[in-house]
Amino acid sequence: MKLQIAVLPGDGIGPEVTNQAIKVLKAIASEFDHTFKFKTADVGAVAIDNHNNPLPDATLKLCKSSDAILFGAIGHPKYDNDPSAKVRPEQGLLKLRKELELFANIRPVKAYESLLDKSPLKRHIIKGVDISIYRELTGGIYFGKKELSEDGNVASDLCEYSREEIERVAHLAFEAAQSRNNKVTLVDKANVLETSRLWRRVVTEIAKQYGDVELDFLFVDNAAMQMILNPKQFDVILTENMFGDIISDEASVIGGSIGLLASASVGKKYAMFEPVHGSFPQATNKNIANPVASILSAAMLLEHFELFSEAQLVKLAVEKSLKLHISTPDINSKYDNVSTSKVGDFIEDFINNPGDTNMN
Ligand code: IPM
Ligand code: MN
Repeated sequence: MKLQIAVLPGDGIGPEVTNQAIKVLKAIASEFDHTFKFKTADVGAVAIDNHNNPLPDATLKLCKSSDAILFGAIGHPKYDNDPSAKVRPEQGLLKLRKELELFANIRPVKAYESLLDKSPLKRHIIKGVDISIYRELTGGIYFGKKELSEDGNVASDLCEYSREEIERVAHLAFEAAQSRNNKVTLVDKANVLETSRLWRRVVTEIAKQYGDVELDFLFVDNAAMQMILNPKQFDVILTENMFGDIISDEASVIGGSIGLLASASVGKKYAMFEPVHGSFPQATNKNIANPVASILSAAMLLEHFELFSEAQLVKLAVEKSLKLHISTPDINSKYDNVSTSKVGDFIEDFINNPGDTNMN
């Protein structure tokens, strides 16, 4: 298969981890006879520095003319500590999601057998957890009208959803449940928010088309608690933009590190693959950030193009690295000298020599 992949490394640790994912995709291409062409462009704080724009036109154009996008990370402390900054790195990512209509963000959460003791949660609570979060990504409070009064003392963010925005992501969530454990949990705040009541109404209607899928509802505050108390009750979680953002960071605790969580952001036309983690400024250029989230995002890219054996091999290589403690310090306090690039090297080698008995 021939693919052109737009690479947007972004800020902080973005370039380091993305490099490992590219390395892995190149190994897959050579092992399976594919042609993957990579073209890089700026986004985020680095794009503000270089072009005065967190999403330059050239970047958007490259994304639109590519088959898929591999995204790194976004954000820089100099903007976080300056609430009056008008241009912010995050606007680059949000605009990209909106322009490409990437309305569904899929975030798998899994407890790896070899990492059960890395989580602060008890082993018996997390063993066997396998959740897929479907987060709506182009609506809600993230994109509603924002206002600040002239005197700067009153601010508002509008949370708005249309039936159509809910329907399209809901269908994807139900379809996913059908190939998993046939359960969708809608996470909302329907006891308070009108948008949540619309979500409940629309999702309940849609559920009728998926008779084999059980639909469950949880208020987001309770869902946050259930994620820690009994995460095994979840199969597919369907939720709006901001609740999905929050609940997925919380869910990352199950796996032992947010450095393991991958995601796919998909629409009808485009698809982007992005780690769930941020730009981790403290680790920038130290070669210590966990590249697994980026590498598993690349595996999701392969799955998107139905390259299932390829994706499977990447996942197997990742699991092997975890088992052998070829991991960065976030999950590897005992063997704290494994760098970002060493993890990438191991996974690359495994893909190049899948039959090697030393590795298996
Ligand atoms: C994420 C991030 C982004 C979000 C930020 C960087 C805008 O936290 O992808 O989860 O809030 O969606
Ligand atoms: Mn987030």
